[in-house]
Amino acid sequence: MPPIGIFDSGIGGLSVLSHIHELMPTEDLLYVADSGHLPYGSKTSEYVVQRAIAITRFLVEQQEAKAIVVACNTATAAAVSRLRSKFLIPIIGMEPGVKPGIKESRSGVVAILATEGTLGSEKFQALLDQYGNGAEVIVQPCNGWVEQVEHAEHDSPETRQIVADQVKPLLKRGADTLVLGCTHFPFLKEAIGIYAGEGIQVIDTGLAVAQELRRRLQSNNLLGMAKTGGNTHFWSSGSPEQTGRLISRLWGDPNQVNPLPV
Ligand code: DGL
Repeated sequence: MPPIGIFDSGIGGLSVLSHIHELMPTEDLLYVADSGHLPYGSKTSEYVVQRAIAITRFLVEQQEAKAIVVACNTATAAAVSRLRSKFLIPIIGMEPGVKPGIKESRSGVVAILATEGTLGSEKFQALLDQYGNGAEVIVQPCNGWVEQVEHAEHDSPETRQIVADQVKPLLKRGADTLVLGCTHFPFLKEAIGIYAGEGIQVIDTGLAVAQELRRRLQSNNLLGMAKTGGNTHFWSSGSPEQTGRLISRLWGDPNQVNPLPV
């Protein structure tokens, strides 16, 4: 069976890759970190669309991926419909968990933490229009968070400060549910947990995306049949060495990170 392609602007999508690997351990996985072009969150949506098309073309045409997971909320908001019109394989995107966040909240105040690109997109507006009525929804662009993760500063004093500056005001306004609408943010869970302690729920959609991927593969007869563990291969458009160090820390030894040719 061909592999599954997964990409993000950097290593944030590893938070989704782990769920995919856990649910489908025998599948071969290809992971692209577009580290030479991050952050996506402050780029124009056309820029992100062009990167998403180039990466998907590489994964589908050169690596024969049978399905693509856009493990990035920002790239999904900008590009998923263009990708679906260009590539005829299952393309699974992700979006902030507005619906589960509202369902879980007891205070009725829900904060959505994401990039500016995601929060300013038409797709996110449509999500709010559809599900946002049941609660007070606060949107919080989390500037600097992606960079802290990419610099391997997951729990440094500076990171804690940045997280505190953006999370504390949300709690003051009564938010009891924080929706992580960017795949980099689960790697800041410890720092977030310092301020969002007991009684505050933190919602992340990585597992739901992995489950949706499995459903789509199943219904398209694309689930792998292998009995033994699958392999995971990595590419980076930034420094393969630096990406490799981050992957070792957040996922496990990548063996090798290849330079992305697009
Ligand atoms: N990880 C990406 C997301 O889920 C965004 C990171 C970026 O801004 O590059 O939105």
